[in-house]
Amino acid sequence: MAIETTLVLVKPDGVRRALCGEIVSRFERRGYELRGARLLKVSRALAQQHYAEHKGKPFFGDLVSFITSGPVLALAVRGENAIAGVRTMMGATNPADSAPGTIRGDLATELSENIVHGSDSKASAKRELGLFFPDGLV
Ligand code: PPS
Repeated sequence: MAIETTLVLVKPDGVRRALCGEIVSRFERRGYELRGARLLKVSRALAQQHYAEHKGKPFFGDLVSFITSGPVLALAVRGENAIAGVRTMMGATNPADSAPGTIRGDLATELSENIVHGSDSKASAKRELGLFFPDGLV
């Protein structure tokens, strides 16, 4: 076990549906610490960098269009084993497969609007935190 910091994005659907408080509250109640929070409109350049590993996949265009379609809430979330723990709390990528009790299982129904993103590894967390919190303070 280790203390880790991970990047969470409340995507445009989550912000539009006023779910930021609900989502932040779940992480805080679990015992994770909020180290950074930033509401921003993601540029196409930032979206393409953030999702670079998916370039060339059939859904890449939709992914970039969606994440740039409205404000997102970027969160730096810290705690014991936070990278895997946050992803467990988010639930499966496709809300149709997400267990009840998870964020997506409770709050979403569609893959294209699955409310949250969480870094999937230590390397991704480091890279993604650098993109969304470039001053390095988190
Ligand atoms: S892969 O190919 O298994 O690596 O892709 P996956 O990890 O399942 O998903 C990567 C991100 O793409 C989103 N996604 C989609 N968006 C729109 N339409 C479709 N069909 C689609 N399939 C996957 C998925 O939510 C992941 O986004 P993030 O922001 O990381 O959750």
